[in-house]
Amino acid sequence: MSAVIDGSVTAEMAVPSVDVAPESQPVGWRHRHLLDVDGLTAADLDLVMRTADAMREVLARPIAKVPALRGRNVTILFYEASTRTRVSFEVAAKNLSADVVNIAAATSSVTKGESLVDTVRTVEALGAQMLVIRHPVSGAPYLAAEIFGGSVLNGGDGWHAHPTQALLDLYTMRSRLPGGSVAGRKVVILGDVLHSRVARSNIWSLTAAGADLWLCGPPTLLRGFEAWAGRGAAAGRRFHVTASVDEALRDADVVMALRIQRERMASGLLPSLREYAARYGLTAARLALAKPGAIVMHPGPMNEGVEIAADVAAGAQSVITDQVTNGVAIRMALLYLLAGVAGAGSGVGGSPAGAPGA
Ligand code: NCD
Repeated sequence: MSAVIDGSVTAEMAVPSVDVAPESQPVGWRHRHLLDVDGLTAADLDLVMRTADAMREVLARPIAKVPALRGRNVTILFYEASTRTRVSFEVAAKNLSADVVNIAAATSSVTKGESLVDTVRTVEALGAQMLVIRHPVSGAPYLAAEIFGGSVLNGGDGWHAHPTQALLDLYTMRSRLPGGSVAGRKVVILGDVLHSRVARSNIWSLTAAGADLWLCGPPTLLRGFEAWAGRGAAAGRRFHVTASVDEALRDADVVMALRIQRERMASGLLPSLREYAARYGLTAARLALAKPGAIVMHPGPMNEGVEIAADVAAGAQSVITDQVTNGVAIRMALLYLLAGVAGAGSGVGGSPAGAPGA
């Protein structure tokens, strides 16, 4: 398979040999930053998936470590709570032998009023070469990318984007669906779509990969997405929005429940969590509308008994723990690919204003 690089040069897209330094082999990756998935081509998505396969193979070794990023500093700067994203970036960087620095904004000089720009300049002066950032403000990683000399990876910004989550979700679907592809598969994202950066990034990558995407939730949590779906459909993407759980779940191949984001919820969007659970919660009875063997996903953290019933979350169709494990492989793949481009190329992603409510 070949990919067009910068519109003119064509390079073979090989699966990288992850045991050697990334800059020593041309694999067809051209992006210096990972800010969102909206600038990734189908060939880029494919390369990320195949590199993650190679990383899964590393993770299966008795010692799950390769020297590829030895001597590189990966700094993880999180301004929001996180368990799996932060820890999986740390594990991923360590598996690649990088030096990892962790900064939680709550215990840093941010609490003394230091600006994002000053903090980014400071971590760069302290040796950061790759910066993983999570921030409550949509667009913050884009600002960081403007001033940082190395590569920036977005670990989630406001309501806008969560590219590594979307990529691990795509990887998990491909590894679980018969035929190894989401093309033509009915994928449902159910719940608090309005406040979800996971949904926004997944919309881009899943429709780009040819899925038949359905967004479902209470109308107040779908505001603005009908217009996006209309534009997507006009551009040949399969993208539907409905408040009917039955319509969404019928014959679905994948059902992804989203957390009700109480911390971002202005009053009046939901009558009550109990009513939400009764009308939109993913229960075994609702899941029975989907295809037999349909897979159940959730990015975590879960509110069991609200957006997903505990027996469904832990049931045979759930791939939620796979998502966590695959998150390590995907983040290893992205760190590896970006490290091969440090200091050159283009950032990934469009304007944060491109998505509704962002
Ligand atoms: C999500 C996030 O932080 O965007 N979680 C995650 O990264 N796995 C979703 C959420 O907070 O509900």
